[in-house]
Amino acid sequence: MEVMQVLGNRRSIRYYLPHRPVEREKVQKMLEAARRASCVGNVTVARAIVIWKDQVSDEVMKAITPPLGYQQMNTAPCFILWYHDKLSYEGNKWIDDLKGLATQRRIGENLEQTVDLIEKSLRPAFGAAWEQMAVAPLAFMDVGQVVAQATFAAWDEGLGTCLMSSPRIEQIGPLLNLPETAIPVCLMSVGYPAESWEAGGQTSRPPLEEIFCEMEYGKPFKSDPAVVEELKRDGLIQTPAPLPWREAELKYIAHALNMEFQLAMPGAATPSEDGS
Ligand SMILES: Cc1cc2nc3c(=O)[nH]c(=O)nc-3n(C[C@H](O)[C@H](O)[C@H](O)COP(=O)(O)O)c2cc1C
Repeated sequence: MEVMQVLGNRRSIRYYLPHRPVEREKVQKMLEAARRASCVGNVTVARAIVIWKDQVSDEVMKAITPPLGYQQMNTAPCFILWYHDKLSYEGNKWIDDLKGLATQRRIGENLEQTVDLIEKSLRPAFGAAWEQMAVAPLAFMDVGQVVAQATFAAWDEGLGTCLMSSPRIEQIGPLLNLPETAIPVCLMSVGYPAESWEAGGQTSRPPLEEIFCEMEYGKPFKSDPAVVEELKRDGLIQTPAPLPWREAELKYIAHALNMEFQLAMPGAATPSEDGS
């Protein structure tokens, strides 16, 4: 499928065919796409644990179930816990990874000068500050990139996904033997959609000009209507949700999956008052 069409077709899928397993090969493809995402300094912070519903204990299932995820948790045959490993930012490793970029001839023009620059100007800073840098916003950016690539690989394989909030390390760490340096970021459900591919239409977003600027804050990036028309033709911009038949589709799916009136998965964590 063309890239714009995959980007346009993607939606969060919350109902899956529970009887249809996800092929392990397809998950491997998602992970391969994930590990090819851009990442700061090539340090590769993102990690994942693939969890198969038919093999998981009730205890783990309960621990990973987010407050708002009963549809996905009840129906998806596969979950991926995406986490960040602080240790990948360790000062010496950071420097070695950067130097690796130079020796692979990916960064800098002159190898010797680039390595010299990394050693003289970056090693002192990273040696002292890697632990703070490992939890700075930029570090989590890598996980987002990785998850996005896995998402699009899944769609290309006919699978649907939905991201959900992740349990905290104290809740899930001991159950999955995660290292202490792990910071869980999000849980992803993976499966064959029980919803139509439209899933009720494209989720609406604030207008482009409201969220993106040109040159400075307050100067909207003006949308060109001709580009909008082109993107409609390419499949990126699609009919917004809800499609007229969505209500009926939701009732149909809930009935087929015997999930009518179910508000939450038994044992699901309840959201705290601050929403965390
Ligand atoms: C980090 C993250 C966490 C999310 N958490 C949840 C969640 O806990 N439950 C849920 O149903 N959807 C969750 N979503 C899905 C969003 O609600 C969804 O992406 C958004 O409404 C836009 O819709 P779309 O993905 O269909 O375009 C999450 C998405 C992201 C990126």
